[in-house]
Amino acid sequence: MGKQTKQKGSHFGGEWTIQKLYIIEEYAKTYLIALKNQKVRKIYIDGFAGSGKTELKHESKSGEQCAAIIDGSALLSLKYDFDEYYFLELDEDRIKLLEENVENSYPQKIDKIHFISGDCNEELTKVLARTTIYDRCLMFLDPYALELKWETLEKISKCNRVDLWYLFPLSVVRLMAKNKDISDTNKEKISSILGNQNWLDELFVESPQMSFFDEPQYERVEYEKVLEYIKARFSTIFPFVSPDSKLLKNKSKNAPMFMLCFMMTNKSAKAQSLASKLVKGIIKSAEKIG
Ligand SMILES: C[S@@+](CC[C@H](N)C(=O)[O-])C[C@H]1O[C@@H](n2cnc3c(N)ncnc32)[C@H](O)[C@@H]1O
Repeated sequence: MGKQTKQKGSHFGGEWTIQKLYIIEEYAKTYLIALKNQKVRKIYIDGFAGSGKTELKHESKSGEQCAAIIDGSALLSLKYDFDEYYFLELDEDRIKLLEENVENSYPQKIDKIHFISGDCNEELTKVLARTTIYDRCLMFLDPYALELKWETLEKISKCNRVDLWYLFPLSVVRLMAKNKDISDTNKEKISSILGNQNWLDELFVESPQMSFFDEPQYERVEYEKVLEYIKARFSTIFPFVSPDSKLLKNKSKNAPMFMLCFMMTNKSAKAQSLASKLVKGIIKSAEKIG
């Protein structure tokens, strides 16, 4: 990872970015090998594509602040031979920059790429509608925070040709105040990403202590149980959700930032078992990096 000067419009990543990108790249590589002899069109879809570059900030051993620019998910996917690529991005400057970055680094691939400027919640449905039963799609959804709506996940889950990696933002859990004192605005935000308000009943238990006014007090269940609940929500709509997921942390604060989850719409037990083993292996090897 060499030091470079900042590229305007690139987004900032934390230490977890390297592990995230490693997992997506390893899966893409093996996915294409697994489908090599199948007469299907292999499509890569990046719902939050960015500019193609990510700026990593880190501290050197001497305590000096350093920045390095690395290829983000969209550019990384171009190292591999998909038949078609869809890059979706809300920010117009970033998508222009992505196009420039592709023209510089992968000019031979430009005809295979669709650059789509807009909200992924609206555009993804149109993209999926363009695919056919002869296609297989590897999708990566990498929002900053709460941008992906549950309804969009539902639509993806109904398209039986998608393997999906979703970087679930754990900022959601921070909105779930431990004593259940959560504003209506935050309740709405949480429900928009989890699909309904059931989490309010399922993630809080009554505390044995009563308040001064004899009103019931609540406690949130353990963090681990919240994470399991989130994956269980995905299982209500996806035929397969990997029990293995990768918790990505801000190391200096030891704070979980995201949970990288894998799910697929393929109903075949054989395909699910293969994917499950692959995901487990990749996540294990990701522990050694970053
Ligand atoms: C974490 S960055 C993506 C990084 C990228 N995957 C990479 O590896 O370089 C999130 C990106 O999503 C974009 N974005 C935010 N909301 C969006 C939306 N609703 N639809 C599409 N893109 C969105 C942001 O502009 C930002 O570039």
